[in-house]
Amino acid sequence: MAAEAPPAGTLVCRLADIADGGGRMFRFGAPEAEFRLLVLRSGDTCYGYVNRCPHFGVPLAARDEQLILDAHRSFRCNTHYARFGWQTGHCDFGDCAGETLPRVALKVESGAVMID
Ligand code: FES
Repeated sequence: MAAEAPPAGTLVCRLADIADGGGRMFRFGAPEAEFRLLVLRSGDTCYGYVNRCPHFGVPLAARDEQLILDAHRSFRCNTHYARFGWQTGHCDFGDCAGETLPRVALKVESGAVMID
């Protein structure tokens, strides 16, 4: 069973924790049922996606530094390099072309990034 996103209002991080055009990965819950979240930042907006590649079901990267980002445009899976739209999570190139990463609604308030 897929882990569920944390409830609305859950603090993810501070907006300043993510560079503009950058991304970070977060984990919530117990290890056996953790929810993995990818957050991408464009200015004061953050895009959230379930961090699970539709191809093999693995996280897009092992560490934040390994995220493959084309700032504000696209991001790639680290395993076989499927490419996803920054604002849509839609895969337009690679082994899961046509699939879309589930969106996790986020909001930014007073410099805090939260689950919406
Ligand atoms: S596991 Fe992501 S592209 Fe293959």
